[in-house]
Amino acid sequence: MTHSTKLGFIHNFLESKERHKMTLLLLHGTGGNEDDLIRLGSEISNFAAILSPRGKILENGAPRFFRRLAEGVFDVKDLKFRTHELADFVKKASELYDFDIRNVVVIGYSNGANIGASLLLLRPEVVSVAILFRPMVPLIPDTCPDLSEKSIFISGGLYDPIVSRRETERLVDLLKKSRANVFVHWKDSGHELGMDEISESSKWLSNIK
Ligand code: MLT
Repeated sequence: MTHSTKLGFIHNFLESKERHKMTLLLLHGTGGNEDDLIRLGSEISNFAAILSPRGKILENGAPRFFRRLAEGVFDVKDLKFRTHELADFVKKASELYDFDIRNVVVIGYSNGANIGASLLLLRPEVVSVAILFRPMVPLIPDTCPDLSEKSIFISGGLYDPIVSRRETERLVDLLKKSRANVFVHWKDSGHELGMDEISESSKWLSNIK
């Protein structure tokens, strides 16, 4: 595994075990880092390459991918800037590490799921498939992108105190309005991730890939 500070993000990169296969872009939650989701990524696909950056915003020392004004209230100007910055990083990483930018699977949890959804809405060219755990609507784009080629797995917690069911459903509506193929999984849980939803998402991915 390469640990690097190149291309403007502290990140890990792991070669794919099969050439020209997919690359997982792992996006951690608030307070996480580039190491956090590596195991989860390999559980979802054990042959894909892995690109795992650390969010550049620090909130009381906790890394995030964009600023927020309060819990669930996002700084949309910063979010847009950070979304483009992250998309540009993924493009540059695809050249440096020689992976296919047309075969990137975004896997995000919480804050990482939110910037993952923002990538889909603002820079869909760097996302082929997305697996989003506990996502919210990150922003409403000026125009809906055409996501008809994108497959998206969304996993919500029915009793999540941070992300309500209604909030996740709003995102599902927005993605469907953009013509994405969306699969929604509801878990009898809160904000924390469970093993069963990870294996569900892995099964779902192997069926579409
Ligand atoms: C978090 O704590 O990360 C929130 O649930 C989501 C966010 O702020 O993006």
